[in-house]
Amino acid sequence: MHEAALHVGLIGLGTVGSQVADRLLNRREVLRRRAGVDLVLDRVLVRDPTRPRAVAVPREMLTTDPADLLEDPCLDVIVEVAGGEEPARSYLERAIRAGKHVVTANKVVMARHGPELLELAGAMNVDVYFEAAVGGGIPLISTFKVDLLANDIQRIMAVINGTTNYVLGRMADAGLSLEEAVAEAQTAGYAEADPTEDVGGYDAVSKLAIMASIGFGARIHPDQIYREGIEGVEPVDFRYARELGYEVKLLAYAARAGERVEARVHPVLVPHGHPLAVVEGAHNAVYVEGDLVGEVLLQGLGAGGRPTASSVVGDLLDLARSVHRQVQHRAAAQFDAQVQVVPMDEVGTRAYFRCRVADRPGVLAAICQVFGEEGVSIASAIQKESDDVSAEFVVTTHRSPDAALRRTRARIARLDVVHSVRAFLRVL
Ligand SMILES: NC(=O)c1ccc[n+]([C@@H]2O[C@H](COP(=O)([O-])OP(=O)(O)OC[C@H]3O[C@@H](n4cnc5c(N)ncnc54)[C@H](OP(=O)(O)O)[C@@H]3O)[C@@H](O)[C@H]2O)c1
Repeated sequence: MHEAALHVGLIGLGTVGSQVADRLLNRREVLRRRAGVDLVLDRVLVRDPTRPRAVAVPREMLTTDPADLLEDPCLDVIVEVAGGEEPARSYLERAIRAGKHVVTANKVVMARHGPELLELAGAMNVDVYFEAAVGGGIPLISTFKVDLLANDIQRIMAVINGTTNYVLGRMADAGLSLEEAVAEAQTAGYAEADPTEDVGGYDAVSKLAIMASIGFGARIHPDQIYREGIEGVEPVDFRYARELGYEVKLLAYAARAGERVEARVHPVLVPHGHPLAVVEGAHNAVYVEGDLVGEVLLQGLGAGGRPTASSVVGDLLDLARSVHRQVQHRAAAQFDAQVQVVPMDEVGTRAYFRCRVADRPGVLAAICQVFGEEGVSIASAIQKESDDVSAEFVVTTHRSPDAALRRTRARIARLDVVHSVRAFLRVL
């Protein structure tokens, strides 16, 4: 550690990295006053040093050799904003083993390997900061680690993927198909060329794994989280949902369930009036219930170079201050590996079914008989004629084990009078 200076190596100079570099290079004096420490950007690792950048970085700072950062004893901290699981995970591990602090925006690495990296960092007496890995600029990790630490967290509910929220919003408001809404999101820069990570719910799973692990102090791996994407939602579902008093959102949900934890990501009907029903466009919102604090809602821009750089540089300043004061800041980084995740079959949920049925007598009786036999009670039903021979039948249920709801869905789909079950969504 150098006298009142923190020497920084940056991995990645893309959307986020260029904003981080810009703030470090062009607001250095302001940051120095705030942290009491000079944050000095020394080296930047990229793949292609000839590529034009959104920020002017001296050419001699750029390198393509990771050893120039990871093995440089003069660097105190490595900021990783390159993304992807490898080589990012190995770089972070090497940095920690070399006694360097790390700051990362990498949700995939933190969701899959966070607990190991944090344990290793504990053994090496360095810090790992990852505020930017969840919710872009929204202060979530620090809120769990510091402000809510007195609480037993009961529940976390989040609209945490801006791309799907934008897509669902356009399907709801403009009646676009999923494909049309995704194409529009790609043009607007909200969706990747391959939208699977977002549309399939994988991105939300990574973020939920991180939040649930920190919130519940448990080691929740992404593979333990039940996942459904938004592929099964059609424009007509938004019309029925609104008629019934709901909006459709991709929800990341985690809750304490006795000694176990529920953790799942899927589309859900959120009642009008719930704070998550009004989260619009590319915004994210996280709703937390703690036993002391009650309900807390955190909302803001969940992505973008500038909001994400706000979190990354905020982490750097916090690190700089704690290094300057010679205090460790690894609060709440303990994870109970014994906590089990409740299997989805056992989870109690409500459901929305939309079926195309024959328009003739006895249909409702046949469908209702299946619900009755599975012990699933109906909360509301709408039937609409759509042509001479078929009708659309929409049902919402009361709370039942998810296994019973899915069995009901499969049995209804096999009835002669049912042409197809077109949608099956959970209801909050
Ligand atoms: N963009 C957002 O809104 C956002 C929000 C929250 C979190 N994040 C996270 O922030 C991280 C960065 O995202 P981004 O959008 O800034 O990505 P990006 O625009 O694709 O930039 C990635 C940068 O990393 C460099 N890079 C990638 N792999 C590398 C490797 N193996 N060795 C050296 N350099 C490498 C690239 O170098 P070249 O330029 O030379 O190719 C590029 O400069 C990701 O973990 C992402 O999940 C992003």
